[in-house]
Amino acid sequence: MGDLSRRDFFKNAAGVGLGISFFEPILFKRRATAGVSASLPVIISSGGHGIKANEAAWQILGKGGNSLDAVEKGANVIESDPEDMSVGIGGLPNEEGEVELDASIMSGPDRNAGAVGGIKYIENPCSVARLVMERTDHVMIVGEGALRFALAHGFQKKNLLTDRARERWLRWKETMSDKDDWFPPKELKEAEKDLVQTYGTINVLAVDVNGNISGITTTSGLSFKIPGRLGDSPIIGAGLYVDNDVGAAGATGRGEEVIKTCGSFMVVENMRRGMSPQQACEDVVKRIINWHGGKADFQDNFVAINKKGETGAASIRKGFRYAVYNEKGNNLYEGVGLLD
Ligand code: GLY
Repeated sequence: MGDLSRRDFFKNAAGVGLGISFFEPILFKRRATAGVSASLPVIISSGGHGIKANEAAWQILGKGGNSLDAVEKGANVIESDPEDMSVGIGGLPNEEGEVELDASIMSGPDRNAGAVGGIKYIENPCSVARLVMERTDHVMIVGEGALRFALAHGFQKKNLLTDRARERWLRWKETMSDKDDWFPPKELKEAEKDLVQTYGTINVLAVDVNGNISGITTTSGLSFKIPGRLGDSPIIGAGLYVDNDVGAAGATGRGEEVIKTCGSFMVVENMRRGMSPQQACEDVVKRIINWHGGKADFQDNFVAINKKGETGAASIRKGFRYAVYNEKGNNLYEGVGLLD
């Protein structure tokens, strides 16, 4: 495929099916059974990897622990999984082969927030975001400053680029154009022929037994991005929003659209005005679709939870999965895709 057609292909395909981990359990239940929870605590996480995040978070939440500790533990497990190419170590790098991570955290009862953007070498950016929230008078620290801040707090510098992620990046670079000096191997695997950019991310949102709400969004961001590009994940109100009186929402997928629509904030405001989490997510997805003339050729996904522990999820296209751990156990569901 020539340079132009390859880029056109990216443009049309980027985002479709994204926000989804490359490694997802096959089992899932339809979302029709997900919505209402009779009891607290409840946790909802985006993507197939949400099952694993929920499992870890439940070790705290299920024992009456607080939602902030729970969401951090859940997100940390995914960040520290080198096989997950969407978050933390193992995340896909920027166009220069460097892993740059973004994360945000909100604590409902403290009415507080923290975030880091474009942080390198630190496996658990959401924990750095928590320290920004708890140990500084700021909300967001980015780039070199975020790394120095993390090191000052004792985080270890690590090479976050796994061989698997490096090879995927190299194939992307080698197959980008037939007018440059990079050649792919002669025996190119089928899956490597048209590598699309992906927006893998995880949202982890919880209401604890005391009704306190917390949330995290953490990501390696758009794969092969221009260095320094930030998506929605570290931006409070875009990739994450929590209001302890109302609920929480998080977004995955093409972050640029979520930033422009203040997506997660809108979902929470919708719930404040009386919508269910499901209605609130669908309303914001509709807005994004409408902004694109009814034909969005990318993917965005929202998950939400309200103070009662009711959950919802919606995306532009079907295929978005999310996990809810409540009194029914830890189950994977499929969100509503509005363009399907
Ligand atoms: N939603 C993740 C990103 O756009 O970076």
